[in-house]
Amino acid sequence: MHAITIEQPGSFTWAEVPDPTPAEGEVVVEVTASAVNRADVMQRQGHYPPPPGAPPYPGLECSGVITAVGPGVTGHHVGERVCALLAGGGYAEQVAVPAGQLLPIPQGLSLQEAAALPEVACTVWSNVVDIARLRQGETLLVHGGGGGIGTFAIQLGKALGATVIATARESKHAQLKDLGADLTIDYTSTDFVEATRDFTDGRGANVILDIIGARYLDKNVAALAPDGRIAIIGMQGGRRGEFDLGALMTKRGSISAATLRARPIPDKARIVRGVHERIWPLVGAGTIRPIIDRTMAMSEAAEAHRLMESSDHIGKILLLP
Ligand SMILES: NC(=O)c1ccc[n+]([C@@H]2O[C@H](COP(=O)([O-])OP(=O)(O)OC[C@H]3O[C@@H](n4cnc5c(N)ncnc54)[C@H](OP(=O)(O)O)[C@@H]3O)[C@@H](O)[C@H]2O)c1
Repeated sequence: MHAITIEQPGSFTWAEVPDPTPAEGEVVVEVTASAVNRADVMQRQGHYPPPPGAPPYPGLECSGVITAVGPGVTGHHVGERVCALLAGGGYAEQVAVPAGQLLPIPQGLSLQEAAALPEVACTVWSNVVDIARLRQGETLLVHGGGGGIGTFAIQLGKALGATVIATARESKHAQLKDLGADLTIDYTSTDFVEATRDFTDGRGANVILDIIGARYLDKNVAALAPDGRIAIIGMQGGRRGEFDLGALMTKRGSISAATLRARPIPDKARIVRGVHERIWPLVGAGTIRPIIDRTMAMSEAAEAHRLMESSDHIGKILLLP
């Protein structure tokens, strides 16, 4: 088969590589589509090696058709159309996946469109709902509202009955409002802490989904409501920082920080089950839809990464082998 290989940090080659074979508990999927994630950009640059046992090629999600079923797998068959959460290897013609990371194609979506969902659905579900326990009537602040994660988080927040505030460059605001954002903040010109407080009558956000990390620690605490929860999933603003713990304690706030890729396989299977039970019906009903900026050939993966690094996209960039 062919896959995107990284022979030197920063560069991609669409190269011939050995076909995957399914290990115990795995299936092999012939890839119809994969999607670009920020983690793939870091992997290409040499900053984010795949976890042990994962395929060496980038790609954290895909959709496609099962072509082989490994020992010990029950409930799946050759020819089944699926999408999957991957630890790597989506930028390829075929990929081996633990069966617990498979999801059916949601009702009403094409096989290709379904590739836009597994990574964002699992990340947002596990951090915003499973960890931060967003509840109906609360306010969710989503940083990076225009990205793949952000466009999904806005829709999920609304579906759960929350008020949603999103930060993004202004050119993206109209689309984020269409997705349900109650307030959009241009973080390049407006202080999101003040805007969030004003919009919530001084209370602040109950849950903050953060992709910036160190640079926003103090500001996120300042924008947080009493008993609020900050869920950090990215470090686009650095990994080491200082913040006023006293301010967090006064609010009885909490901060979580979690990455999906490095989680043990049974943990991922649990998250995938939660997504299947709670999120897939919302997708099937059209309440949440995949937001796809554009679709590109897998051989153009380097160009797709340049687009992601420019942040000029809204939602997901799909890659087709
Ligand atoms: N922990 C996990 O398990 C996990 C899983 C998946 C993703 N992530 C992380 O989540 C983040 C988003 O991923 P993604 O795939 O959605 O990437 P993406 O599509 O590139 O979205 C990132 C967005 O951030 C915006 N942005 C940049 N600086 C910002 C700032 N200071 N304030 C608000 N927005 C800002 C960019 O748009 P504008 O600047 O144009 O508004 C862009 O839309 C990444 O850091 C990624 O590593 C973590």
